[in-house]
Amino acid sequence: MLKIVYSSVYGSSKAYAEALASRFGAIAEDVKDTELGNAAIVVHFGGLYAGTVSGLKKVYRAIPENAELIVVTVGLADPGYDDNKRKIESDVSKIIPPGRARLFHVRGRMDYSVLSAKHRAMMWMLVKWIKSHNYDDPQNRQLVETYGDFIDFVDFGMLDDIEKYLKERI
Ligand SMILES: Cc1cc2nc3c(=O)[nH]c(=O)nc-3n(C[C@H](O)[C@H](O)[C@H](O)COP(=O)(O)O)c2cc1C
Repeated sequence: MLKIVYSSVYGSSKAYAEALASRFGAIAEDVKDTELGNAAIVVHFGGLYAGTVSGLKKVYRAIPENAELIVVTVGLADPGYDDNKRKIESDVSKIIPPGRARLFHVRGRMDYSVLSAKHRAMMWMLVKWIKSHNYDDPQNRQLVETYGDFIDFVDFGMLDDIEKYLKERI
């Protein structure tokens, strides 16, 4: 059985999961409200939050050992840059054993006006750190320049490769 699940704080992982599910006539479910004990293929969409993938630990614990796991990270950083991809993959490998899941990376959105106080403080500290340490990096510069704005990189076309990969499996 195919299960498409998500863990989303601000909605972009949820939107991607729902868009992929609709391509398969399936329903995307929040990892908090689903049962994964019988799943054969699990696709998990999780937002990237400072070195971790939302919900991934929970999904990894809940799936059968022989279930195929596909993890889709949703973050602001551009996975087209090798450095970013490496960093995301290293973060994933702290949660699940390397090679356990097929990984895909898509880009999300962030609206500073709806961030929690904790997340707002984390972003403030990150921007402060970048300004004094690594402002030459173009992506860091972009993060500083867009600080406080609504940044939206969501692109459902990024699901095409995942759809193709899944179709070869089910
Ligand atoms: C406190 C905080 C930390 C974040 N850390 C990262 C990060 O390490 N890498 C990244 O690419 N995006 C990072 N982001 C951006 C989120 O991953 C992005 O907004 C994503 O779309 C959120 O997914 P969600 O809407 O499903 O919660 C961070 C956002 C916040 C608020």
